Amino acid sequence: MSDHPDRLLDMALHVRGESRYVDDLTPPQGTLYAAVFASPAAHGRIRRLDTSRALARPGVRGVFTARDIPGENQIGGIIPDEPLLADGEVHCVGEPVALVVADTQRLARAALASVELEVERLPAVFDPREAFKQGLLIRPPRTFAAGDVEAAWKNCDVVVEGRVDSGGQEHLYLETQCSLALPGEGGSLKVISATQGPTAVQKSVARVLGLPMHQVEVEVLRLGGGFGGKEDQATPWACLAALAASRLGKPVKLVLQRQEDMRLTGKRHPYSSDFRLGAAYDGRLLAYEVTFYQNAGCTADLSTSILERSLFHATGSYLIPNVRATGACCRTNLPSNTAFRGFGGPQAMFVIEAAIVRLAEALGVEPAAVQEKNLLAEGDALPYGQRVRGCQARRCWLEARTRYRLEERRWQVAEFNRTHTLARKGLALMPVCFGISFTNQTLNQAGALVHVFTDGSVSLATAAVEMGQGVHRKLREVASRAFSIDRERVRLEPTSTARVPNTSPTAASTGTDLNGRAAELACRAVLGRLREVAAQELGKHHPERVEIREEQVFYQGKPSSLTWAKLVAAAYGRRVSLSAQAHYATPGIHFDRSTEKGEPFAYHAYGTALCEVTLDCLRGTYVVDSVEVVHDLGPSLDAAADLGQAEGGIAQGIGWLTLEEVLHAPDGSLLTKDLSTYKVPDIHFAPRRLEVHFLEDTENPLGVFNAKAIGEPPLMYGIGVYFALRAAMRAFRPDGELSLVAPLTPERVLMQLAGDLPL
Ligand code: MTE
Ligand code: MOS
Repeated sequence: MSDHPDRLLDMALHVRGESRYVDDLTPPQGTLYAAVFASPAAHGRIRRLDTSRALARPGVRGVFTARDIPGENQIGGIIPDEPLLADGEVHCVGEPVALVVADTQRLARAALASVELEVERLPAVFDPREAFKQGLLIRPPRTFAAGDVEAAWKNCDVVVEGRVDSGGQEHLYLETQCSLALPGEGGSLKVISATQGPTAVQKSVARVLGLPMHQVEVEVLRLGGGFGGKEDQATPWACLAALAASRLGKPVKLVLQRQEDMRLTGKRHPYSSDFRLGAAYDGRLLAYEVTFYQNAGCTADLSTSILERSLFHATGSYLIPNVRATGACCRTNLPSNTAFRGFGGPQAMFVIEAAIVRLAEALGVEPAAVQEKNLLAEGDALPYGQRVRGCQARRCWLEARTRYRLEERRWQVAEFNRTHTLARKGLALMPVCFGISFTNQTLNQAGALVHVFTDGSVSLATAAVEMGQGVHRKLREVASRAFSIDRERVRLEPTSTARVPNTSPTAASTGTDLNGRAAELACRAVLGRLREVAAQELGKHHPERVEIREEQVFYQGKPSSLTWAKLVAAAYGRRVSLSAQAHYATPGIHFDRSTEKGEPFAYHAYGTALCEVTLDCLRGTYVVDSVEVVHDLGPSLDAAADLGQAEGGIAQGIGWLTLEEVLHAPDGSLLTKDLSTYKVPDIHFAPRRLEVHFLEDTENPLGVFNAKAIGEPPLMYGIGVYFALRAAMRAFRPDGELSLVAPLTPERVLMQLAGDLPL
C-alpha cells in the first residue's frame, strides 16, 4: 500500500470520515431550514388550518401549505394518489400538512407547535384484511395461475392450510432523509437529494413547481444507505425543500431527525396471507394456492410493483405444477409502505417456506426433504411462464449440504436436544431464487457518460446511485477493465440528472448490471476511436489489430512505443473526441399483464443457506449460531463489496423476522419510533459464524463481465433463521400449536412455549 491510499475509494473516505453526505455540505450563506408539520390524525377532514401564529414566530420566513403549490400538488409516481401537502383530508399520522421555514433548524422546529390544525376524525383502518373487506383496494387484485389447482387437490395425498403474517421493517439507513434546494437563474433549481431515484425527484419537483424538467437538476453525492426507503420516499422532502426555495428565492435545507424519519416514512409492507399446499405422499408438491393481503398504507407509492414481485416469487425456489397466487394491495391509514430490499419477494418466500414446514409436519418428515425434492431444475417453468436458465438451485443446495456437513450437524443438534432440559437447537435450510430485472420493463435501461481527459484520467458518470452497496467501485472496475488501465485513473462522478438523464432508480439489484453495461458501451466507443488514432500514430492500417493491455498499446500482439497516456494525448492532438455517451436496455425481457405471462427477468440468482440457532426455552431468548451459505454469484467484480452485500443482507433478513417489530398505537401513531423500542440486530446478535461461499464459475451473459447481481438476494437467507428457531421450538414442544407469525421476537417465542414450561 502506498502512503496515499486511493483517495477515490468510498471505503477509504468513510474510514477517514471524509466522505460527504448532503448534511455535510457547507450550505451557502443565507440558507434557510425547513421543518415539517405532520398530521396527528390517522384519517380525517381538515376543518381548520391556521399558520398565521407560526409565521409570526421569531426567525420564521415562510409557512407553506397545499395552497402555496404553484404546480400540481401531486407526487404519486405510479398512481397519482399522493398529495405533497395534505389538501382537505389527512390519511395517516405523519402525513405532511405544512412546511415551516426559518433561519435555523431550531427556530423552524420551535414554530411547528404554533401551527393550528383541527381535524374531524374519520374511521381509520390499519389491518389489510379489514381494508380488503371494506373494498379499500389501491388496484383490483391480480392472480398468477398455472395448471389447474382445483383439479389438483383431488390428487394430493396431503393438503395443509394456514395463515402467515409477516411484519413491517424500518429501513434505518444511517443517513436520514434530507435535501438541499438551491435556486438558480430564471426560476431554475438545483436539488441535492439523498435519493435512489434522481429522475423521480426531478420529475416530481418539476410537476409540483410547474416547471419543465430541464429547469430542475437533481444531484446525488452518495447515500448513507437507502435499502429501498429512498427509492420513492426521498421525493417528498426534496419537493418540499424545492417548494420553499422557489417561493423564497433562498437555498432551503430539509433534514429529518431520526424519530421524525421513523414516524413520517413508510416501511417494508406487512403481509397477511392464506395458503393451501398439497403434495403426494413422497413429498412432491402438486398444488399451491395463496392470497397475499398487502398492507400498502395510505397511498400507492410502489406497492403495486412490490405486490407484483410477491406474485413472481410466490413459489420460491420450487417447481409446483398447479398454482394460483392472488395479491390484494390494501389501502390502510398508515404512512405509505414502500420498497425494502427484496421488494415483496421476501414476504412471498416466507409464506411458501411456512407452508412447506406445515406440510412436512403433516407428512412427518424434515422440511428439508420436501424442499430438496421440489427444487427448481434447468428449464423448469415458473407459474408466469419464464423457464429458468443456468439454474443453480440444486447445485447450491447440494454444495451447502456437503460443505457445511448437514448430516453430522443434524446428529449434533439431536444430541444437544436430547441432553439439555431448557435449551434447544434448531436447523433449517433456506434456498433462494430471485429474479433480476425491474418487473416494470421500461425501467430496465441506463445511461453512461465517459470523458477521458488529456492526462489520461477518466471521469465516468452513470445513473447509478452509490448507497454503500459498492456500485461505484464496481463501475470503476468496469471502466478500468474496458480500457485496460489502472483503476486509480477512473473517477466516478456524483449522480446527476444533468449528466445522465431519464434514469431509473438504483434499485432491484440492477445498479451494476444496467449501468455497468452502459459504461462498458461508452468506454468501447472511445476505445474504438483510440484504436484508429493508434494505428495512424504507428503508421499501420488495421485499427482492429490495436489492443491496450495494462496501459500499453500493442499492435498485432507486439508492444508499441505508445502508452495509454501518449495515445490519449495524440488523440486530442488529432482533434478526436475523447468523450462518449451510451445507453443500455436489457434485451429479451417482456411481460404481458393481460395474461400474466412472459419472461420478465434477465436471469435469476440462486443460493442456499444452512441456519442454526440455540434457544433458551426458559427465557425465550436465542442465539444465531451460524448462517452458512453457498451463493451463485459468478466471477466477482469486487470481492469485498460482494461479501459485504451478502453479510449485510443476511443480517437485515434475520432482523426482519426476529427482533424488528413495528408497532402502532390504536390511533395509528408509531410506538416503535426510536432505537430504545425498535430493536435491530447488532454485532452481538449477528450470527456467531457467518460464512458465504460464492460459486465463481457460473455464467451470466446478461451480467457485467459475467457477474450476477447481489444487492437483494442474500436478505432472504434470513428466512432460514426463522425456521431454525421454529425447529428449536418444535423440539421443545413436539405437539404444541406454533403460529406462523413474524417477527419471532423472544416475547413471542416465550408466549408460545409457556404452556409447557416445566416450572
Ligand atoms: N447495501 C447498502 N450498503 N446500502 C443500501 O442502501 N440497498 C439494497 C442493496 N444493498 C443497499 C445495499 C437494495 S434495496 C438494493 S435494490 C441494492 O443494494 C441496490 O444497489 P445495486 O442495484 O447496485 O445492487
Ligand atoms: Mo431495492 S428495495 O430495489 O431499492
